Amino acid sequence: MSYIIDGKAISAQIKEECRERVERLREKGVSVTLAVVLVGDDPASCVYVNNKKKACEFCGIESRTYELSADTTQQEVLNLVQTLNADESVNGILVQLPLPEHIDENEIIYAISPEKDVDGFHPYNVGALSIGLPGHVSCTPAGVIELLKRSNIEISGKHCVVVGRSNIVGKPMSMLLLRENGTVTVAHSKTADLKAVTSQADILVVAVGKPKFITEEYVKEGAVVIDVGIHRMDNKKLCGDVDFDRVEPKTKAITPVPGGVGVMTIAMLMHNCVTAAERKECYER
Ligand code: GUN
Repeated sequence: MSYIIDGKAISAQIKEECRERVERLREKGVSVTLAVVLVGDDPASCVYVNNKKKACEFCGIESRTYELSADTTQQEVLNLVQTLNADESVNGILVQLPLPEHIDENEIIYAISPEKDVDGFHPYNVGALSIGLPGHVSCTPAGVIELLKRSNIEISGKHCVVVGRSNIVGKPMSMLLLRENGTVTVAHSKTADLKAVTSQADILVVAVGKPKFITEEYVKEGAVVIDVGIHRMDNKKLCGDVDFDRVEPKTKAITPVPGGVGVMTIAMLMHNCVTAAERKECYER
């Protein structure tokens, strides 16, 4: 029987810890504020932004949402980011992606102060992760590490295969697993004989963006499988990048969809916001 990793319970635990940390800061007269910038009205982005607001409310973090119309210019978004950088009361800045096509995402991310970049997308934070300096880590891969650690799954010395090489998940995921002393392989769409590679994994992290792509032939008996994907099927049910019903019997532990990795992203965002406020408080003391 496989162990089903309970992302819901672990994310609730992390949010509760954040709530307590916010309370401790409040006792010192420090408040925590997240600024969320939403450009346009992409329905999925609106849902994410609302979920972030709810999590902030639970943790006692003040959230300020800046809703800009889809025809906002690059310069207007940059001006807002610069205003938020300079605002001492703002600890975290999150610009919801994707941005409309006429906006250069990289330039916007680059403009955010690294210490307020609670998404961990700024090149400074990406570089800091790769050389072991403190910085904010991208929320989804950071959430995967928490799921493994809090489920008592050893990473050190294990062969970890990450399928996917995106800037948001695959690349930071591989750096984090390496930091935890895993032996890391990154596979992607051009990998030759993907099954032969994934079948070597003790820990298999899948972020390919294709529904039910990973079936039992890709997985070693007794592996731990982490599914980062989330898709809505024609029957309205959610599924991941892993075909759960076919893969689960072969695994030692596996994340479900929903209730696995997805719920961890916002919990880690809360963690990054509180950390930003704690670091600032510590620095100013
Ligand atoms: N869009 C989808 N996921 C994310 C995320 O984690 N951060 C930001 N900024 N935008 C997103």
